[in-house]
Amino acid sequence: MKKALITGINGQDGSYLSEYLLSLGYEVHGIVRRHSVAENQNHRLVKHGTSQKVHAYYGDLTDYPSLVRIVSDVMPDEIYNLGAMSHVRVSFDMPSFTIQTNALGVLNMLEVYRTICPNAKFYQASSSEMFGNSVDEDGVQRLSTPMNPVSPYGCSKVMGYNLVRHYRHAYKLHACNGILFNHESPRRGTNFVTNKVVRGAVAIKKGLENQLELGNMDSYRDWGHSKDYVRAMHMIVNHETPEEFIVATGQTHSVRNLCETVFGKLDLDYRNYVVQNPKYMRPEELKYLKGDPSKARDILGWKPDYTFSSMIDEMIERWDKEL
Ligand code: NAP
Ligand code: GDD
Repeated sequence: MKKALITGINGQDGSYLSEYLLSLGYEVHGIVRRHSVAENQNHRLVKHGTSQKVHAYYGDLTDYPSLVRIVSDVMPDEIYNLGAMSHVRVSFDMPSFTIQTNALGVLNMLEVYRTICPNAKFYQASSSEMFGNSVDEDGVQRLSTPMNPVSPYGCSKVMGYNLVRHYRHAYKLHACNGILFNHESPRRGTNFVTNKVVRGAVAIKKGLENQLELGNMDSYRDWGHSKDYVRAMHMIVNHETPEEFIVATGQTHSVRNLCETVFGKLDLDYRNYVVQNPKYMRPEELKYLKGDPSKARDILGWKPDYTFSSMIDEMIERWDKEL
């Protein structure tokens, strides 16, 4: 039985990845942070019935001794470093914590990996936010597209990405980066735009709310489903050589189009309900993302099961039940 250790196990991706690895017969271990309300520590795992099936440990990417203790106890075959301060807008408010977790935290994990279990495989959750506003002439980001991050979050992820490549080359480790474009699900945090729009539209449809406040509606994102993307993580780690892969749908939609689609599915016109609030604007915005997933498709055989539309249907279903 293979052992996997997941940082950020209680996040959107961590919860889906746990379920996927359990279904493959893995023993799954994960790191959760201490919260003042105990129930918040592993709420996604509890909600979806996984908490009894995984082994959870208190730790933090900024707390090196906790990582030494956990990795020594578990001795994992595969490490998935998903833990991060993952909200781009919030990273402008908390730049130091963002860099400490998303950049120095990667360094901490790599050092512990290198010194305690160097024969394991290591996956780093890298991000399309690293490209910033670089786009190739054909309107796509690919592995060769320059990285010009436009947020503290993007800067921190570039540092983590480069550290992984450096450790791979310097110490001959099986350490790889998945550069994942935006991926969503009913489990997405409610302050990310997809889940915020779906929740808001369903609340308006039910007469519980009467408007939805958003920031920039003219940015474009390449949105896929988390469940499809965690399968790609496992494929990337288990590819015979440690490499970088882009995981994306190759399609892009504006936030405005997202609103049009979600409200449209509920027979509503978003223009009657959505208002812009400068509070949700960013000091610097990443305007356009559309990834080229051809390497993952051709070499790993990865392809998504969900479409943009079927993903939104699933998210609407969640809020329809919950509100
Ligand atoms: P998420 O739902 O925000 O989950 C992030 C997880 O990291 C949470 O469990 C969080 O714990 C944990 N965490 C935060 N700070 C930590 C620290 N200092 N030490 C240890 N754990 C910490 O994010 P996600 O959507 O699942 O994303 C997973 C990873 O993929 C992240 O690294 C993210 O940056 C990256 N990524 C995401 C996307 C996307 O579109 N979803 C795209 C590209 C890359 P708490 O619950 O205690 O806060
Ligand atoms: N969150 C949020 N809230 N975003 C809004 C809002 C709002 O009220 N109004 C407009 N937006 C716009 C943002 O300005 C951005 O252009 C777009 O919606 C998407 O925002 P998010 O859903 O917050 O995602 P993100 O693209 O900034 O970051 C996500 O994707 C990255 C990969 O590209 C996160 O999951 C990151 O962790 C991930 O790395």
